[in-house]
Amino acid sequence: MNTRTVIAGTGSYLPEKVLTNFDLEKMIDTSADWILSRTGIRERHLASPEEATSDLATKAGRAALDMAGVDPADLDLIIVATLTPDHYFPSTAGFVQRNLGAGKAAAFDLEAACTGFIYALTVGDLFIKTGTYQKVLVIGAEVLSKFLDWEDRDTCILFGDGAGAAVLVPGDDSERGIISTHLHSDGSMAELLYVPAGVSRMPISKEAIDQKLNTLKMRGHEVFKVAVTRLSEVVDEVMEANGLGEEDIDFLVPHQANLRIIQATARKLKLPMEKVIVTVDIHGNTSAASVPLALDAAVRSKRINKGDMVLLEAFGGGLTWGAALVRW
Ligand code: COA
Repeated sequence: MNTRTVIAGTGSYLPEKVLTNFDLEKMIDTSADWILSRTGIRERHLASPEEATSDLATKAGRAALDMAGVDPADLDLIIVATLTPDHYFPSTAGFVQRNLGAGKAAAFDLEAACTGFIYALTVGDLFIKTGTYQKVLVIGAEVLSKFLDWEDRDTCILFGDGAGAAVLVPGDDSERGIISTHLHSDGSMAELLYVPAGVSRMPISKEAIDQKLNTLKMRGHEVFKVAVTRLSEVVDEVMEANGLGEEDIDFLVPHQANLRIIQATARKLKLPMEKVIVTVDIHGNTSAASVPLALDAAVRSKRINKGDMVLLEAFGGGLTWGAALVRW
């Protein structure tokens, strides 16, 4: 039986508050032009003090359920990919379940940093393929702004808050749906991109806070180089695994971290930029939310349509990276 998992609906949510590069110029030693030329980012959205990750996730999830025509009460499973949960425990997915009124759904979080949505999509796909569940809501959601050092120009210019979601259901033919997923990780480089303190390795303390060890640290230049290499490898892997050439790909939906990384992957695939979905300019790097945010924008603007071959990819902390090939 070759029924594939179909993405029946997508949704996204960006918080109201917008922080532009010009706003950042007034806060730290940087320039709007530097940020735009090095990253492709023009602005990012910031959650309000009252907004937590589950609030963003719920809004994105609801939009995806509406598009799919799925009643939250019928959901079997909710997976939230996030590195910025509401609490250490219980899971952010549990709050989303409560907010949506998805009474019968199992719910758990998944942490694979910026690759989180690709990992969650893979897990959801397997639950559907095995026949265990019929309706799965997969969400990538982050409130990174509350984990940033707003005096560190190396990191604070890059990230933003947001959420994106997809509803997964069994397809009714063997053509449309998720064709293959590919996941990788390399823990040997974990400290290139991480938050040092706050949990069991280094519980929160006055010293940790004084040294801002509870905020995101990144060796950006090294991360950049590894990202370009690993993303090139994983797109090759997808093409080989499915016997495809670059002419077979209609759209690339990349992790929205840095326009230069996106362009490098597109070049590797010999894809013109018209076939690449870019939204990094309006929301910056939203980690696990970035791929579903870009996907939802492309679906709602009708750039991606039924039958299109869509390649999703992401790279992030862990280090982790991965890709998914979907016939829309
Ligand atoms: N404004 C102005 N100048 C800045 C700056 C800022 N916000 N941040 C760094 N600089 C300076 C540096 O101090 C350095 O100055 P120097 O040459 O005098 O030492 C110069 O700009 C170049 O720094 P470098 O780090 O080499 O720049 P870069 O071209 O690698 O770009 C990043 C920096 C962070 C944009 C880039 O490395 C990047 O995008 N990395 C990957 C980030 C990422 O995507 N992470 C998440 C993966 S999921």
